[in-house]
Amino acid sequence: MLESAKSIFVTGHKGLVGSALCRTLQSEGFRNIITASRQELDLTNQAAVNEFMATHQPSVVIVSAGHVGGIMANNTEPAQFIFENTQIACNLIHASHTHRVSKLLYLGSSCIYPKRADQPISEDSLLAGPLEPTNQWYAVAKIAGIKLCQAYRRQYGCDFVAAMPTNLYGPGDHYDPERSHVLPALLHKFSEAKRLNLPQVECWGTGRPRREFLYVDDLASACIEVLNRYSDDDIINIGYGSDISILELTSMVQEIVGYQGEIVWDSSKPDGTYRKLLNSTKIQSLGWSPKTELREGMRHAYADYLDRFRRSTDNAKLSTDSALAANDRQGIIA
Ligand SMILES: NC(=O)c1ccc[n+]([C@@H]2O[C@H](COP(=O)([O-])OP(=O)(O)OC[C@H]3O[C@@H](n4cnc5c(N)ncnc54)[C@H](OP(=O)(O)O)[C@@H]3O)[C@@H](O)[C@H]2O)c1
Repeated sequence: MLESAKSIFVTGHKGLVGSALCRTLQSEGFRNIITASRQELDLTNQAAVNEFMATHQPSVVIVSAGHVGGIMANNTEPAQFIFENTQIACNLIHASHTHRVSKLLYLGSSCIYPKRADQPISEDSLLAGPLEPTNQWYAVAKIAGIKLCQAYRRQYGCDFVAAMPTNLYGPGDHYDPERSHVLPALLHKFSEAKRLNLPQVECWGTGRPRREFLYVDDLASACIEVLNRYSDDDIINIGYGSDISILELTSMVQEIVGYQGEIVWDSSKPDGTYRKLLNSTKIQSLGWSPKTELREGMRHAYADYLDRFRRSTDNAKLSTDSALAANDRQGIIA
């Protein structure tokens, strides 16, 4: 499918996912990639999206732009999470129909599944129970994107598909404690503790909850597989296939960062959902499997972190005291 595509519009190309998609598409020899920064094209602006699509006429669109963040950001910006993500989905999906895009891939998230979904979570758990309240705003917007793909397929025959990635990490991630997810938050926290020679690092909860992590370049290769080989109404999960306890994850981060101090678990703090593992048998049946083992991927992510932030003299955004305080407020096991 991609080989015959004239051009592919990767939205959010400066983000974690968008940049990995561009990297992977380029490495596979795909040259005609269309991108636009937020300054060039605000995806929440319907008229601007329509005009852009009319001008560039992409044959493939990947909806990898979005307003993304951890628990703290979800709590403080619920309106932005629901409005911007719904708006981005509506504008891109409708304009893709109007301008006869031959394939669209919409990226959702494992957050769309019910809080108490059976593990590992299969695609048919969608809308089978109440959502996790902390990120319901984001989840509802992402579910709207899925339903838009299904509706445009049903009414107009559009080849629009929706994939649900698990937690991602890798080069280009966010380390700002106000926005980051658990793995980059831990890398930053331990790195700062090492730099400041702190005797101990405190982590929230018991460390028992389990989470799944996928290296973002593996997600990008899965997206290419989906674009080439998947065309269906049903959503498709993209996960690593196994999970790890937060305790094990934390030890791994400690080792990779080279922090010698002690880890203290504050079990009076909440643990969050016990497990969130996707059932990825459907994507595996297309012949895809992840290539990057967690420890190896984490080393790449940490190298990127050091490159981008620690060698920079201008890292006011990551000022140590506020960063550590924010990590503590956030409860980085979330
Ligand atoms: N990260 C994860 O663990 C994860 C897991 C599952 C699913 N996903 C999905 O993958 C997608 C991308 O996530 P990510 O982690 O790559 O996020 P990210 O690093 O924050 O990147 C998001 C990108 O979208 C752009 N964007 C946001 N709002 C925009 C707007 N109104 N107009 C134009 N561009 C806009 C951002 O532009 P700026 O650079 O200007 O901010 C950024 O380049 C999301 O939809 C998310 O649901 C992510």
